[in-house]
Amino acid sequence: MPTPAATASARSGIRVRPLTEHIGAEVENVDLSRPISQAEFEDINDALVTHSVLVFRDQDLPPAMHVDFSARFGRLVGHLVKRFSVEDYPEVTYISNVRNEKGEMIGADRAGMVWHSDMSYFPRPMLGSMLYGVECPPEGADTEFASMFAAHDALPASLHALLARSRGVHDYAWHYANYLSHRPPLTEDEKAKAPPVAHPALRTHPVSGRKAVYLSEGLTRTVEGMDEEAGRRLVVEVSQFATQPQFVYRHKWRPRDLVFWDNRSTMHRATEFDNRHRRLMRRTTVEGDVPF
Ligand code: OGA
Ligand code: MN
Repeated sequence: MPTPAATASARSGIRVRPLTEHIGAEVENVDLSRPISQAEFEDINDALVTHSVLVFRDQDLPPAMHVDFSARFGRLVGHLVKRFSVEDYPEVTYISNVRNEKGEMIGADRAGMVWHSDMSYFPRPMLGSMLYGVECPPEGADTEFASMFAAHDALPASLHALLARSRGVHDYAWHYANYLSHRPPLTEDEKAKAPPVAHPALRTHPVSGRKAVYLSEGLTRTVEGMDEEAGRRLVVEVSQFATQPQFVYRHKWRPRDLVFWDNRSTMHRATEFDNRHRRLMRRTTVEGDVPF
């Protein structure tokens, strides 16, 4: 199937150019270094719901404007680990392999290397995330995004029927112990902020009504009411099905890119790079609704 055609909005002047058949669009003719208009906000919000991942190239986005733009879409939630925040901006998190003069990691290092939807372990998980490239390695460190709408629509009937009555158990402490063992362990205080939570395995997008897969290999430990191991196998099977190449857009970062994704209809993961290169990214996350 071909990539859909680009469209231009008469009310805001914004151009939206789809990047693949199912997921991703580049948004052109908007400047995020100053507050956006109501028409721009509405067109960007519509494009997010339709395309799930929006790429804005060549943007000047100091932390104050990153916060200003993000907050148009909802309440901002900072990282559970407070030391990863940008100084004076608790809602902005560094995703980085850079160390400070004391040799400590300034941000979340090797964050999100396994498929996931951001902070799905909260009762109200994130509507969206905005990641901005400050320093990007010349190659590698791409971010992959998979359309959970397209994955849902392609589910075999028997698997669809099973998932329609299942709830995934999302568990940050389990994720951290399994995938983030290179970092200092979570404190008891941090663990207490994110007890495991169950969400429907298939969720309804609150704006468009489309159905999406909402299980991820990285953050969904198992399936509620199932044997732990069997539930885990089902999660991994669904996650692998849902992230096949035909559902994926792979973003190659350039400095000054802002990528805004809809966590209600996508999963994403970071990819490897040569760790001798500096990678410095800033992220905000916008709270969403209780999944249904
Ligand atoms: C994130 C994330 C991926 C990346 O910031 O939520 O998963 O490529 N990042 O840094
Ligand atoms: Mn993530």
